[in-house]
Amino acid sequence: MAAFCDLHKNNYTRAVIAILLFHLIYYPVIAAANIDNNYGGFSAPLIRINFKNPPLHSRPKHHKSGRRLIGPDTPQATLQTDPDKQDGHLMKLSVGTPAFDIYLAIDTGSTLLWTHCQPCQTCKETKHGMFDPKKSSTYKDVPCSAGECKILGQFEQDDGYCKDPKDTCRYYFEYLDTTFSTGVMAKETVTLNTTSGKAVTLKDILIGCAQEQKGATYTDDEMGIIGLGGGNLSFVSQIAPYAGGKKFSHCFVPRDTDPNIESKINFGKGSEVVGEGVVSTPLLESRGDAYMIEVEGITIGNDFVPFNSTGTTMLEMRIDSGTPKTYIPQDFFHRVATQFMKTFDTVDSKLDSFISDDEKYDESHLCIEGTTIPKEPKVAINFKGGQKLQFTGEQIFFPNKDLNLTCFGMSNTTSQGLAGDHYGIYGGNIQRNFLIGFDLDKNVVSFKPTNCITNGGGTD
Ligand SMILES: *[C@@H]1O[C@H](CO)[C@@H](O)[C@H](O)[C@H]1NC(C)=O
Ligand SMILES: *[C@@H]1O[C@H](CO)[C@@H](O)[C@H](O)[C@H]1NC(C)=O
Ligand SMILES: *[C@@H]1O[C@H](CO)[C@@H](O)[C@H](O)[C@H]1NC(C)=O
Ligand SMILES: *[C@@H]1O[C@H](CO)[C@@H](O)[C@H](O)[C@H]1NC(C)=O
Ligand SMILES: *[C@@H]1O[C@H](CO)[C@@H](O)[C@H](O)[C@H]1NC(C)=O
Repeated sequence: MAAFCDLHKNNYTRAVIAILLFHLIYYPVIAAANIDNNYGGFSAPLIRINFKNPPLHSRPKHHKSGRRLIGPDTPQATLQTDPDKQDGHLMKLSVGTPAFDIYLAIDTGSTLLWTHCQPCQTCKETKHGMFDPKKSSTYKDVPCSAGECKILGQFEQDDGYCKDPKDTCRYYFEYLDTTFSTGVMAKETVTLNTTSGKAVTLKDILIGCAQEQKGATYTDDEMGIIGLGGGNLSFVSQIAPYAGGKKFSHCFVPRDTDPNIESKINFGKGSEVVGEGVVSTPLLESRGDAYMIEVEGITIGNDFVPFNSTGTTMLEMRIDSGTPKTYIPQDFFHRVATQFMKTFDTVDSKLDSFISDDEKYDESHLCIEGTTIPKEPKVAINFKGGQKLQFTGEQIFFPNKDLNLTCFGMSNTTSQGLAGDHYGIYGGNIQRNFLIGFDLDKNVVSFKPTNCITNGGGTD
């Protein structure tokens, strides 16, 4: 009995220590960051991958393995090389003092901001060069004893680093297609130019300095990744106290938009997505860094296809800008595809022209000849609680000029090797031409139909 009581006491003490530790850990992470402007929100341009170069098209049958971050939850964070990897979005930042410009691929499916650092023999040097920490007066290594290193430990591989607390903290990011990036953790000054012309300087931002990289090829401009996931070490979280809140919004332009057209990403105060036509749904908590939402079903034309006919089980979807297509579980996909073809048939009597882009017929790739985007049927997603988000044909279909095919933008999770009957990926294409706001203080994501080409989605 006594032992039992002691045990309780111990547990209680440990819990308190854990909370205290957390504050000790977290406070320095955020306290040192410093925006030198008005402590409000700001907007930055979203640059296209391969800007100033025509975007490339790839065969849709190569839509397979992306760079998928190995992590504890399913489905995994993704940052995919195909098919519209070439058509993704970048942010231009500068690191260090003097400032060195870098272009980073934005990814809502992962958390850390990392860039190639000299010396890195295996990193592909882009035409923009490579950051040299030795030339920066503001560069600071993060030791293993630092709180940030311990937080990072949740996705760091236990492979012998940090034997000595004075060692430099390392990160090791492995992706499902076996690409990986590894390097040291550092604190650096990060500067970016806002769309209103001001520069924002953020001091002591935790970054990964890549010293080794293997696997999938990066595009000509990509010098790393800015993870916009919800973790405590994410850029969004680090700048939250100074940007007026842990929130951001972005507007992705449609595929095949002139690569020189920029849209916007908004951070902090003022990034709220409000006004007419806004559809919001809660973000599930307790999913680590992933942005997960719950979906009741999909509406094809006037017909609602429930994820689960009993209405009791929701489909959990990971919002992932890094994966172009949308993936849903096999059984659900089958019902969606069947309804889709049925409706399409009555609208256009073109069912027979549905063909597969793979050698063997595979229902998970529904394509139609020609590159004209069908006007019907209309597709909408029904979030838990009844809110319905309507998509346009441009968001739902992938035209491919090279193959003279237009393919339905949804596939089954099995075709991507993703596990789980209740998980899906809310892909990048159905995020285009929406101003999408992630409010991590309120745990809600909001979608507003927006012409991201003409409007940019800016909030300033
Ligand atoms: C910010 O603007 C200055 C002046 O135009 C430019 O030299 C610098 O490269 C820009 N930095 C970033 C990160 O865009
Ligand atoms: C992040 O911080 C919050 C408190 O702000 C805490 O509840 C949560 O557990 C932290 N998450 C991680 C992954 O450290
Ligand atoms: C639907 O929900 C019921 C009850 O939770 C469950 O038994 C069934 O397996 C679910 N079906 C699907 C397709 O998830
Ligand atoms: C593409 O497909 C459409 C519809 O089948 C056809 O009318 C058109 O001639 C094709 N174009 C080319 C370049 O093959
Ligand atoms: C799901 O994808 C797998 C792999 O591509 C395929 O074999 C299967 O037929 C697909 N299922 C449905 C319902 O489309």
